[in-house]
Amino acid sequence: MTRVTCPVLTQRLTTAEAAAELVRPGDNVGISGFTGAGYPKALPAALAARIQAAHKRGEDFRIGLWSGASTAASADGVLAEAHGIATRLPYNSDPTLRRLINAGEVDYIDAHLSHSAQQMWFGFYGDLDVAIVEVTAILPGGLLVPSSSVGNNKTWLEQARTVILEVNDWQPRELEGFHDIYYGSAMPPHRLPLMMTEPMQRIGEPYLRVDVDKVAAVVRTDAPDRNSPFDPPGETSMAIAGHLVEFLGHEVRAGRMPATLLPIQSGVGNTANAVLAGLGDSEFTGLTAFTEVLQDAMLDLLDSGTLRAASATSFGLSNEGVRRFIDNIASYKGRILLRSEAISNHPELIRRLGVIAMNGMLEADIYGNVNSTHVLGSEIMNGIGGSGDFARNAYLNFFLSPSTAKSGAVSAIVPMVSHVDHTEHDVHVLVTEQGLADLRGLSPRNRATRIIANCAHPDYRDELRDYHDRAWRERPTARHTPHLLGEALGWHQRYLDTGTMR
Ligand code: COA
Repeated sequence: MTRVTCPVLTQRLTTAEAAAELVRPGDNVGISGFTGAGYPKALPAALAARIQAAHKRGEDFRIGLWSGASTAASADGVLAEAHGIATRLPYNSDPTLRRLINAGEVDYIDAHLSHSAQQMWFGFYGDLDVAIVEVTAILPGGLLVPSSSVGNNKTWLEQARTVILEVNDWQPRELEGFHDIYYGSAMPPHRLPLMMTEPMQRIGEPYLRVDVDKVAAVVRTDAPDRNSPFDPPGETSMAIAGHLVEFLGHEVRAGRMPATLLPIQSGVGNTANAVLAGLGDSEFTGLTAFTEVLQDAMLDLLDSGTLRAASATSFGLSNEGVRRFIDNIASYKGRILLRSEAISNHPELIRRLGVIAMNGMLEADIYGNVNSTHVLGSEIMNGIGGSGDFARNAYLNFFLSPSTAKSGAVSAIVPMVSHVDHTEHDVHVLVTEQGLADLRGLSPRNRATRIIANCAHPDYRDELRDYHDRAWRERPTARHTPHLLGEALGWHQRYLDTGTMR
């Protein structure tokens, strides 16, 4: 079956190399893609080749690269290797690009994902020159069947001066009907409430729209998404999952949640994936998800009935997960909805639905501030992603991490985090394999006692207690969150001094 049935756009079919000529040095380029799904498969390499050729001629050729979230080595990676990226937003997890950001070559705007589209509309980032968006099919009249992620595609298609579409035969044609694209947004002060009271409620339409006059090129591809495998859950992440699932049962018994819980959100990373596996082994059934990414463990939950249905903005599956999804695609229809990230991560909806947010962290401090993004306060890991959107507005949030990193050399519980993403005012529950600290309704002093006792690794507990006790004694007029500043920062500095970390 042909994937391009729009007569006007059939005329614009061309090669990736020809389409790449439409991008000029200095352009801002908005690409599709979220968590390794739905990114353009051909244009980034063609553009990287063009950039490299320009550099060989001694010409400066770099672009601003905007996306939904992370893409893949064949998108972010090739453009980074070509030294073709000047600025990047709103999220990255590609190791090559991460290196260039940390080396100071690329300016990275690490934004809340729910903010990225609207801040573009507000004019905070400048103009968008070119959109490069992967789709599953092009229908007459500029209707597009989206692919395996939606991300910021609606905004890029509307805002860009020029649009390039990639039609990927690898994406199942049956994806038509899995999307709900909201077209009711307006700028303040004309915004209206989002009329959604249930995670699977449709408020939009199954298609993206594009002004066909802006589409300068259509490129055919047939290539898979990134489809990274997850590590099988290890002992540590299973212990974290165990504490969290037990706590949810406790909340149900205490009457603070229904037996089917409230809609769940699960973040990126191996720990978050293991927690979903833990939910699969639990007594819970008939749950819903209002989340960002549907990873393999979400499919497991849908298959087993633990999860009734899931709303997200993207898939984030392994090869095995993709095979399973495609083989059983009909059974998922109506149980999976993909939306724009402005909707999947919308604070109003997260607050109204009462989402349970579960996200990974790098470190937390004894008062409950959380660092999700920066190693030793300086080196970006990935970015804040949607963790702030969900945590800040959740009914209940969890931050999860092993109690140590780097084979035990680094404690994930520290006197003062080296960078703050989620403040003590936002964080509800911390979980490590050691245990769980429920911080709700506690003063900083009581939080410190509980976090050290329940979450810190035994190798670091005494040192953390000693720090807190001395800070308490030495700051008699500042005992709300007492700190010994030099020592708190020295905790991190010693890893640099001893060469434990670069
Ligand atoms: N200090 C230094 N490095 C640390 C660390 C610490 N306190 N804690 C973890 N790390 C390192 C680990 O060593 C590992 O690096 P390596 O692969 O080089 O060994 C890496 O961070 C990942 O750690 P891991 O324990 O495997 O965690 P994860 O896969 O569960 O990911 C985050 C944890 C924080 C990196 C990840 O959750 C993230 O990027 N979060 C921010 C965005 C987010 O939450 N998005 C979801 C919103 S929907």
